[in-house]
Amino acid sequence: MTKRVAIFISGGGSNMVRLVEDMQAGNHAGEPVLVLANDINADGLTKAKALGVPTAVVDHRPFKGDRAAFEAALQAVLDQVQPDIICLAGFMRVLTEGFVAPWEGKMLNIHPSLLPKYKGLHTHARALEAGDREHGCTVHLVTPALDDGPILGQAHVPVLEGDTPDDLAARVLVQEHRLYPAVLRRFAAGDMRPIMLP
Ligand code: GAR
Repeated sequence: MTKRVAIFISGGGSNMVRLVEDMQAGNHAGEPVLVLANDINADGLTKAKALGVPTAVVDHRPFKGDRAAFEAALQAVLDQVQPDIICLAGFMRVLTEGFVAPWEGKMLNIHPSLLPKYKGLHTHARALEAGDREHGCTVHLVTPALDDGPILGQAHVPVLEGDTPDDLAARVLVQEHRLYPAVLRRFAAGDMRPIMLP
């Protein structure tokens, strides 16, 4: 049976577009049923609509830091759509254990570093500051601890002389667009073996 996939975004949604395109390409165990943003101005919402995927917005700001109430509103939207899998794709809100626990094993995230290195923000600048020669991205299962769950895939990029954080982010994003669809394709089919891209 097809797995219903909801994708959470906060901004441009380029990873979301790649996930949707891959599901719509056919021969895929997943089907995109919802793109949800926490910001009504997220550019990805327009892209999702153009791809024919239903959208929803749950703005975090009116909740004024009440994470439990924000997450209850997220869950209420999900209750209407009944997804089997959630993909966090540039969703820039930290989700607490109350939301994550019921979705454990069914929620994926893409993070722009080679986890366990550089959990949290500013990953590209931190890799440069550390003098790393290699950087990349990771898709992992979401657990209550931030950027910490079992790894489902990683892709590597070289760090080049003179790179700025933006240079590195752009190089990593190209690999994110290869990695995340490949992982979701496998995961939706029930295959948990990690994908390691060079
Ligand atoms: C991506 O680089 C993703 O890895 C990162 O945000 C970007 C979203 O781009 N996610 C995080 O930093 C999560 N902590 P997109 O909206 O174009 O997919």
